[in-house]
Amino acid sequence: MELLKVENTARAGSYDIEIGSGLIAAAGEKLGRFIPKHDKTVVVSDENVFRLYGERVMASLAKAGADTAAVIIPPGEASKTLKQLEAIYDLFGDIGLKRGGLVIALGGGVVGDIAGLAAATWMRGVPLVQLPTTLLAQVDSSVGGKTAIDTSSGKNMVGVFSRPAAVLADTETLSTLPLREYASGMAEVIKYGAIASAGLFERLESLNAGAAGEDIIAACCGIKADIVSEDEFDTGKRQLLNFGHTFGHALETKYGFTKYTHGEAVAQGMVIAAAVGESAGITPKGTADRILRLTLAQGLPAPETDITDLARYISHDKKSTADSVSLVLIRGIGAAVIHNVKFGEAGALLASAQTVIRSEAKR
Ligand code: NAD
Ligand code: GLY
Repeated sequence: MELLKVENTARAGSYDIEIGSGLIAAAGEKLGRFIPKHDKTVVVSDENVFRLYGERVMASLAKAGADTAAVIIPPGEASKTLKQLEAIYDLFGDIGLKRGGLVIALGGGVVGDIAGLAAATWMRGVPLVQLPTTLLAQVDSSVGGKTAIDTSSGKNMVGVFSRPAAVLADTETLSTLPLREYASGMAEVIKYGAIASAGLFERLESLNAGAAGEDIIAACCGIKADIVSEDEFDTGKRQLLNFGHTFGHALETKYGFTKYTHGEAVAQGMVIAAAVGESAGITPKGTADRILRLTLAQGLPAPETDITDLARYISHDKKSTADSVSLVLIRGIGAAVIHNVKFGEAGALLASAQTVIRSEAKR
């Protein structure tokens, strides 16, 4: 069992992240102090996750005295909509959830993001606990308080920062996760090594595919907790968590979010960002190849053969201004930096990155 704390150096309060096996069955006991005595405890989940873990969590909460109800949404990114958010509000109303209640997000990043937003805005804010069930949610989305839905303008366009009251990451749930989703989470795990820990990256290089344990999940949460503690509201250092995401997001946008999972796109984005860094003289030669080998070993795809057209999708990035985008590059494995690039330069950078990737792949 691993226990971490997320604080903000400039703002009072903190929350715990507990990581271990069997935490869902122990949710009632673990969350005792957050369970309201005179109000509802509402579990928000998706159909897949609730079918697998709903009964376990509801029974555990009821045993701890919670007056429970469940709101179940269809699985997948298509559920992160205003329409689905409204449906959740309607169900909160039908259930009789009041401000003194508790919302529990049981699922991956989709459930965490929309349930987080629903809780943060229902009656101006109800406490939320995250019970993440995907690797991606356990190492990333359940920590840090970002909540969101997508709109026709793009992904995660509407949301608020709202800290969870607690995070319980039950590693047992990863045993039922489809392999593709597991690999997708591994892309974020690799990202933490690439931006902040050469030691973690080396450990991952010596692992077999799909073998992230409690200690690795805790290492990732520790890195994210440190970054979020310093920059909760994403105005500086938190942007380093976007390594691989600018190009990854460009790929997702290019294919209308259908061809690649988020992690598959980020894996390619990290190789591209390292190659961009190499051609700009910021990243040591051979780094893109090292990231590529690690992502391939985890069942993630290599970058597409022609990446030059990604330049046209980069201006959609939330971190962009009218004429430029903040790219996260690395000075080496474990050391990330922000590098500003004008949109006009992006095409040439991507063309050089493509040459780097091709020449390193031939070695
Ligand atoms: P997801 O929530 O869609 O889950 C992936 C699939 O796995 C779904 O079909 C789900 O039903 C299923 N599933 C979940 N847990 C399972 C389990 N234990 N066993 C079997 N099936 C299971 O996807 P995700 O990758 O977890 O999250 C992606 C979302 O997270 C995106 O919307 C992204 O924008 C968001 N995100 C948010 C943050 C943040 O800081 N808030 C960070 C990263 C990503
Ligand atoms: N996943 C990026 C962030 O939390 O800031």
